[in-house]
Amino acid sequence: MGLLSGKTALITGAARGIGKAIALKFAEEGANIAFTDLVLNDDMAAGLEATRKEIEAVGVKCNAYAGNAADFEETEALVKKVKEEMGSIDILVNNAGITKDGLMLRMTEAQWDAVINVNLKSAFNFIHACTPIMMRQKGGSIINMASVVGVHGNAGQCNYAASKAGLIALAKSIAQEMGAKGIRANAIAPGFIETAMTAQLPDEVRKEWAKKIPLRRAGQVDDIANTAVYLASDLSSYVSGQVIQVDGGMNM
Ligand code: NAI
Repeated sequence: MGLLSGKTALITGAARGIGKAIALKFAEEGANIAFTDLVLNDDMAAGLEATRKEIEAVGVKCNAYAGNAADFEETEALVKKVKEEMGSIDILVNNAGITKDGLMLRMTEAQWDAVINVNLKSAFNFIHACTPIMMRQKGGSIINMASVVGVHGNAGQCNYAASKAGLIALAKSIAQEMGAKGIRANAIAPGFIETAMTAQLPDEVRKEWAKKIPLRRAGQVDDIANTAVYLASDLSSYVSGQVIQVDGGMNM
């Protein structure tokens, strides 16, 4: 018996990176997995299917869904399909995210809108569609993937930091609104985690980050996945409305 046996988890943006690590860890703990990702070309479709197979090989049911998490109507239809095909949705991880960095004076409206829509509106879309299902099931755990910059801010990332602060406030508000229905909502705020997203950063930026981390290493995707298992499972049954910073001690 795993910590998540008998539960179904829906994870957004999980074809790679942190989302994929969470899906695999949840599967190892016995959860059935539904995950989404953006599919704009054949390579992305192949990536989605490859990840689905990898998760299924752990020995659980795994369905993959192509979809733009920022699209409200698409998300409503997707969640309906997940419920029909998987039976229940007990855990929702709002993980899909992008960066379009720039200093405020040079930031375009398109950069602002894209990041707010993909990072923040997507979580509204999925919470809006999933919570009626969770309420009928008399419980659920929602995890928003925020960031330490959503707590502390970051020059050059005003759009991204604002979206991540929004995800934290969204989790706290849902925790208050829906606690009586057995629904918990929390946020994880990762620090510097080695993924495709951070691989894009210039070397000098990566070195600057490393200097600020007391544990003197970048985080790995499993560091985040382990925290997600805790928040998804009954180990955290009295934890709601919290932000857990997983950042090697970078921010205290
Ligand atoms: P990643 O870029 O490797 O993975 C993000 C996934 O989201 C990709 O598979 C991408 O296709 C998907 N995605 C993007 N737009 C989408 C959309 N409109 N609809 C559906 N899926 C979409 O990034 P990574 O590093 O795994 O990040 C995952 C989450 O963790 C993000 O929310 C990110 O902001 C957050 N995070 C990451 C940190 C890091 O150091 N890597 C630090 C703090 C937070």
